[in-house]
Amino acid sequence: MSPRVVPRTGRPVAGIRLKTWSEIRMMREAGRIVAEVLAAMRTMVQSGVTTAELDRWAEDYIRRRGGIPAFKGYPSMKDEGGPPYPATLCTSVNHVLVHGIPGPYRLREGDIISIDVGVNFRGYYADAAITLPVGSIPPEVRRLLEVTEAALWAAIAQARPGRRLGDIQWAIQHTVESRGFRVAREFTSHGIGRALHEPPSFVNLGHPGRGLPLRPGMTMAIEPMVTMGDWRTRILEDGWTVVTLDGSLAAHFEHTIAITEGDPIILTALEDDPRLAS
Ligand code: MF3
Ligand code: CO
Repeated sequence: MSPRVVPRTGRPVAGIRLKTWSEIRMMREAGRIVAEVLAAMRTMVQSGVTTAELDRWAEDYIRRRGGIPAFKGYPSMKDEGGPPYPATLCTSVNHVLVHGIPGPYRLREGDIISIDVGVNFRGYYADAAITLPVGSIPPEVRRLLEVTEAALWAAIAQARPGRRLGDIQWAIQHTVESRGFRVAREFTSHGIGRALHEPPSFVNLGHPGRGLPLRPGMTMAIEPMVTMGDWRTRILEDGWTVVTLDGSLAAHFEHTIAITEGDPIILTALEDDPRLAS
C-alpha cells in the first residue's frame, strides 16, 4: 500500500512532472544500484588502485544488476559538440571538481577522489556522488569533505512542502560559505526521473523563501560542489574534466531524493525507506 505522499497522476507543475508513487519506487531500484556501487567504492578506493579499475568494476556491477550506466555516451555539455562521456563513473581527483574521466592514474595516499555514478534502471534514473580520502589527509581537507557533505544534508532537510527551491539553494550556500569554503557556481543540481537531467536545473546558491514552491512528487539530484579556493573552473582538452582554475582542492556529494508530504526519501541511500516497502 502506498502512503498518501505523492499525486496519483504524473501531472506537470511549473514544467515539472510530478512523479507517482510507482515511479518513485522505480527510481529507488536505480538508486539502490547506485548506493551499492558507492558502498563498494568505499572499500575499493585505496592507494595503488587505478580509476579505470574502479570504473570497470562499477560498469560490470551495474550491468549484472540489470541496470545501464547513465553517464556513458552522455552528449557533450559543450555547445560545439565535443565527445560524449566515455565512462560509467566520474572519478575526480584532488583539484578536479567534477567529470574526471577514469584512466591509468593510480590513487596515492593523501589524494581525495570524488566518485559520481548514475544508473538507468528500466527507464528510471538515479544519480549520487561521494568524495573519499585515500589514506590519511590533512585536517583542513577532511573538513572540506565534511562541510560539503553537511551542505548536502542541510539542503535535503529543506526538501519538503512549504519550502521553496531557494531554501535548498541557500542551505548549501550558507553551510559552505559560513565555514570559509566556496560553492562552485558554474554547475548545477537538477531534477531527475525519466531522464538523468530534468527541470528544474538550479545553482547551489540562492535566497531563502524564494523560487519554486516544493511539492510532493518532485524528485531531484542535489549536488553541492565545493572548492577550498577560487570557485572558478576550466575544462581540460578532453572536453569533460573540470578543474579548479587555481588548482585548489574540490569536493562533491550528491543524493537523489523524492519530496513527500513528510520527510524526503533518499533514493540513493543504502538502507531502504520503510515508506517504499510494497
Ligand atoms: N552528477 C553529474 C550530473 O548530474 C554527472 C553527469 S556526468 C555526464 O550532471 F556525463 F553524464 F554528464
Ligand atoms: Co547529478
